[in-house]
Amino acid sequence: MSGDTGSVYSRIAGTGGYLPERIMTNAELESMVETSDEWITSRTGITQRHIAAEDEFTLDLAEKASRVAIANAGIDASDIDLIVVATTTPDRVFPSTACLLQSKLDVHGCPAFDVQAVCTGFVYALGVADKFVKTGAAKCALVVGAETFSRIIDWTDRNTCVLFGDGAGAVVITASEEPGIYSTHLHADGDYAELLHVPSGVSNNLAAVKDGRAYVEMAGSEVFKMAVKTLGRIADETLEANGMVRDDVDWLVPHQANLRIIAATAKKLRLPMEKVILTVAEQGNTSAASIPLALHAGVSDGRIKRGETLIIEGFGGGFTWGSALIEY
Ligand code: COA
Repeated sequence: MSGDTGSVYSRIAGTGGYLPERIMTNAELESMVETSDEWITSRTGITQRHIAAEDEFTLDLAEKASRVAIANAGIDASDIDLIVVATTTPDRVFPSTACLLQSKLDVHGCPAFDVQAVCTGFVYALGVADKFVKTGAAKCALVVGAETFSRIIDWTDRNTCVLFGDGAGAVVITASEEPGIYSTHLHADGDYAELLHVPSGVSNNLAAVKDGRAYVEMAGSEVFKMAVKTLGRIADETLEANGMVRDDVDWLVPHQANLRIIAATAKKLRLPMEKVILTVAEQGNTSAASIPLALHAGVSDGRIKRGETLIIEGFGGGFTWGSALIEY
């Protein structure tokens, strides 16, 4: 295992999460598009998702999740010296959601920025923040995954609208001599951009989609196959990098896109499903928020205990993919 005595690790001091009040069930979707609860449940494991209110934005979700993480970490917001927010659905083109969040939390002066790696966003954000802490550039970082993905969904497209939901998750990581985050592994291959994307943006704002709005488009089965293959491979990479074997892992905390993708990854790790933190049934795919929300669920209900070893892993548009090996 890496990490000599005296090394600086970043350690998860506290977790937080927030889900909007409004729940959209599969039954409600049946009244919107040609689908069925049976189809959605059997293909994805999703039974409901949370949807932000009209006057509720990514920043609001991020702030609520952050306040819970700050309280659980037992720190004061003024201790925070780095804010990294992973989001695909920022409130504004600029300033970044991280800067807006910084102001809401009455924190001033420390670096604050967003990262964009879609569903792998939280793993990227954690990887960046971990490196700040390991190099001594930060001692107490707030890392957030927050999304109002419902705003980039075409609610008439059954291929995508059944899959996603809104939410935010956050962690506070602090410098520690004890592990800690052992390693993070970040990857991308932009050749796959067209398989999962929103085909217009700020610079290229042509009428790429109907009525000129920007919605998620996805080649579902291609994404599915790549996700299963890639997530299996990255689990091995993560263990090998730390000289660990499958039996050393207590928990898998995966990105919650689809129960079948998660089950395939767990099988590859030879982990029984009882050792996998699942929120996909109640929350759907909340993109960058899904991993910190799952982590928060596992920690708050007492399943994940201090000293236990977790793998977090995600896959998303880009394609991007990544993982971290963490002793909680
Ligand atoms: N309700 C009913 N039918 C639907 C549907 C829905 N909500 N969405 C798609 N279908 C139909 C399609 O139109 C297609 O019909 P056709 O065969 O007549 O053309 C058929 O179902 C596709 O079936 P199948 O190929 O068996 O679906 P699948 O097992 O691949 O499941 C997904 C579809 C989208 C659930 C699956 O591919 C998936 O999860 N992909 C990954 C998505 C993902 O995780 N994206 C985010 C990554 S971060």
